[in-house]
Amino acid sequence: SECVKILAVESSCDETAASVVENGRIVKSNIISSQIELHKLYGGVVPEIASRKHIEKINYVIEEALKEAGETLDTIDAIAVTYGPGLVGALLVGVAEAKAIAFAKKKPLVGVHHIEGHICANYIEHPDLKPPFLCLVVSGGHTHLVNVKDYVTYEVIGRTRDDAAGEAFDKVARAIGLGYPGGPKIEALAKEGDKNAIAFPRAKVNDSKMDFSFSGLKSAVLNYLNHCQMKGEEVNKADVAASFQEAVVDVLSAHGVEAAVELGYKKLAIAGGVASNHAFREKMIERCKEAGIDFYYPSPVFCTDNAAMIGVCGYHEYMNGTRSGWDLNAVPGLKI
Ligand code: KG4
Ligand code: ZN
Repeated sequence: SECVKILAVESSCDETAASVVENGRIVKSNIISSQIELHKLYGGVVPEIASRKHIEKINYVIEEALKEAGETLDTIDAIAVTYGPGLVGALLVGVAEAKAIAFAKKKPLVGVHHIEGHICANYIEHPDLKPPFLCLVVSGGHTHLVNVKDYVTYEVIGRTRDDAAGEAFDKVARAIGLGYPGGPKIEALAKEGDKNAIAFPRAKVNDSKMDFSFSGLKSAVLNYLNHCQMKGEEVNKADVAASFQEAVVDVLSAHGVEAAVELGYKKLAIAGGVASNHAFREKMIERCKEAGIDFYYPSPVFCTDNAAMIGVCGYHEYMNGTRSGWDLNAVPGLKI
């Protein structure tokens, strides 16, 4: 049987990553060089520093990915690269590298959409998962309900009106002094707190069942902290973390499952950095079971940014005939 090997490159934010994926399902290698320690000093991702670090690491992660997979630039079939959305300078490093390799080795070049990549991460560990299905994408910059029509056709049917879910985690983490990256720090601290301690609001978007809003919740947390400070009351940060996380997870899961039921989907998946949150996964498992919906989620390492998901998405684009030209450019605001 035919075996198609994709070398994938991802550099849209603060991870420099490369991977070799076979036939869109089998991850032969998944190398991630994280810049978290570097950006921590500044409380968030500094774009210029991210670009410079990508340049330093990109050759290394590609060499490691090929070595671990037992492949070379000559034995792979095509090169897939994230070209958006993301930080323009960061994206350009991966795009320029992939173009150079493709040109020098006369291999097909396939530009991949970062968010579609996140969704495709679900195919890695669920060989049974096939479109159509509904996917709730929850990352640092996006909170989208996506109708996955087939392996290359996506339609956004709901989105956040303001902050993304991951953005809310990051902002609340900063407000209670946990620093960057917010999501994992809130999740860890929440384990020591009481999720029912503070009744934070569950935001509803009045004119749409498919859309989300997280800025009200973020403001409620900030107001709560200010209120405590004014009254000279000590804040129990673990309770704030647990109650905030519960509010996000409650809204996301209720919304996602309701949308799936209403639209008649039998399968619901999650994707993106916030999908690695265990409280969220547990709540989704519970609510999907109640609703009689099959639930799919990637391992944490495939939820946060990685190149394996780009290799999976790139495979499907490649098989569908997508070929990018030498004019492939970074598109920071790329839409689905
Ligand atoms: O998908 P991702 O790695 O990058 C983007 O494409 O944005 O998502 C990063 C986001 C950040 O906002 C981060 O705080 C959040 O995902 N995140 C989490 C967790 N791990 C990462 N949020 C909640 N709980 C986590 N364990
Ligand atoms: Zn991402």
